[in-house]
Amino acid sequence: MPVNPVETHYSRVDLGETILAALKAAGKDVNHLTPDDLAPVDEFHGGQRPATVRLAELVGFTGTERVLDVGSGLGGPSRYLAWHYGCRVSGVDLTAEFVRVAEMLTELTGLAGKADYRQGSALALPFEDSAFDVVWSQNAAMNIADRDRLYREMRRVLKPGGRLALQEVAAGLGGPPHFPVQWAREPSISFLLSQKETREKLEAAGFRVVVWQDTTEASLQAARARAASAGAPPVLGTHLLLGDDWPAMFRNSARNLEERRTELFNAVLQRV
Ligand SMILES: C[S@@+](CC[C@H](N)C(=O)[O-])C[C@H]1O[C@@H](n2cnc3c(N)ncnc32)[C@H](O)[C@@H]1O
Repeated sequence: MPVNPVETHYSRVDLGETILAALKAAGKDVNHLTPDDLAPVDEFHGGQRPATVRLAELVGFTGTERVLDVGSGLGGPSRYLAWHYGCRVSGVDLTAEFVRVAEMLTELTGLAGKADYRQGSALALPFEDSAFDVVWSQNAAMNIADRDRLYREMRRVLKPGGRLALQEVAAGLGGPPHFPVQWAREPSISFLLSQKETREKLEAAGFRVVVWQDTTEASLQAARARAASAGAPPVLGTHLLLGDDWPAMFRNSARNLEERRTELFNAVLQRV
């Protein structure tokens, strides 16, 4: 049983079976799955697969990179990097159930030699210093209060000159978010910083900004489409990962962006 409130928030009973049943109901052959088949359910962040593609293009992967995905969830983004570019990817995530499902889906997509997952904390990454060319993280930091330590850990496991790729939710000027949202049912596990504060913490941790893009406006359309799906969800979707209150989460995500309570950004930084 999870003891950490963040892990409790994300843990679902029988998640693997739920996803397999939905894949079958969606007409997928579960013995011959590709990352594309899984993308509607295993890309657990705003903008889903298209957002992963955009961030990967900002990094400009060549396929030779050794990559760490921090807060890797079900492994959708990391499997995409392994499959599309040929990178060797490791994922670390706090939620044991997500790690189990990530391993199952990686086996089913035939990517077990290219992607591996382990349970662990982003604040004590279970890897040696200078082990990775790229550290990647999408929509995980909003659950992490100690950003100084998070960014120091990310820098520690990067090789000198290595790059950090981030897609994060930031605090906007419109006030605190409406809850529940996908990452928290109430404020006690939500830790948003403004883009400016985030950038200052990253620079203080020893990173140089290479690219910084505010994607709030561009993300609104996808968030509104998701909110509209709350009446009739697709067979396969990230609502399967959330609790019964997922319609409110989808609606609040769009509303928080509209009211500038939240902002989204992509960034690529370099370890100096
Ligand atoms: C919204 S999900 C995003 C998953 C994945 N990055 C994706 O985009 O598909 C946030 C993830 O961050 C993980 N997480 C939150 N706090 C963490 C921490 N301190 N250490 C490791 N993982 C954490 C959660 O368990 C969850 O899987």
